Amino acid sequence: MDAARFREVLSAVPTSVVVVTAVDRGEPVGMAVGTFLSVSLDPPLVGFLPAASSTTFPRIRHADAFCANVLTVNQQHVSRAFATRGADKFAGLSWRPAPVTGSPVLEGVAAWIDCRITRLHEAGDHFIVIGEVTDLAAAPGERPLVFHRSRYMDSAPEIQASPDSVRAGE
Ligand SMILES: Cc1cc2nc3c(=O)[nH]c(=O)nc-3n(C[C@H](O)[C@H](O)[C@H](O)COP(=O)(O)O)c2cc1C
Repeated sequence: MDAARFREVLSAVPTSVVVVTAVDRGEPVGMAVGTFLSVSLDPPLVGFLPAASSTTFPRIRHADAFCANVLTVNQQHVSRAFATRGADKFAGLSWRPAPVTGSPVLEGVAAWIDCRITRLHEAGDHFIVIGEVTDLAAAPGERPLVFHRSRYMDSAPEIQASPDSVRAGE
């Protein structure tokens, strides 16, 4: 498999931009991911896929918990900070501890989902991490940030896809 072709084709799939946070030995840690997913309603499970090479994921794993912070269109700079290895990722950011696990809830996010890690699977050069949801909330009206073809995008307002509007566009 040609790596460049794999990346190019898969970049056609738009993703959310989520910062997964935890507190490890008293220190906040986090990483940006495009692989956050809703897994199960009963029991309530979500997941994400960290690279085996991530230096942050071992710390999230040690914390045994994480909070998934869904970034808004105004938080591209937050994504960039949390995608930079070795950076002081929390510099200049406000956050509060999630009620159950204490993992950081970043200020101004579109939604946050607080979890305890329940399963970890190996998958090629990544892990699949599953967490049981302990608490969650969303800020209605916030537009989530989208990543598509290696660029940040705005999530456009709802499209009006009725048969009438299709006909009107002919
Ligand atoms: C939009 C976006 C999506 C990303 N998705 C993932 C992902 O799903 N899994 C992953 O391991 N890294 C992903 N990254 C890269 C990590 O954020 C980055 O490599 C990492 O946080 C920095 O290294 P560290 O984990 O060693 O601190 C993504 C980066 C961006 C900007």
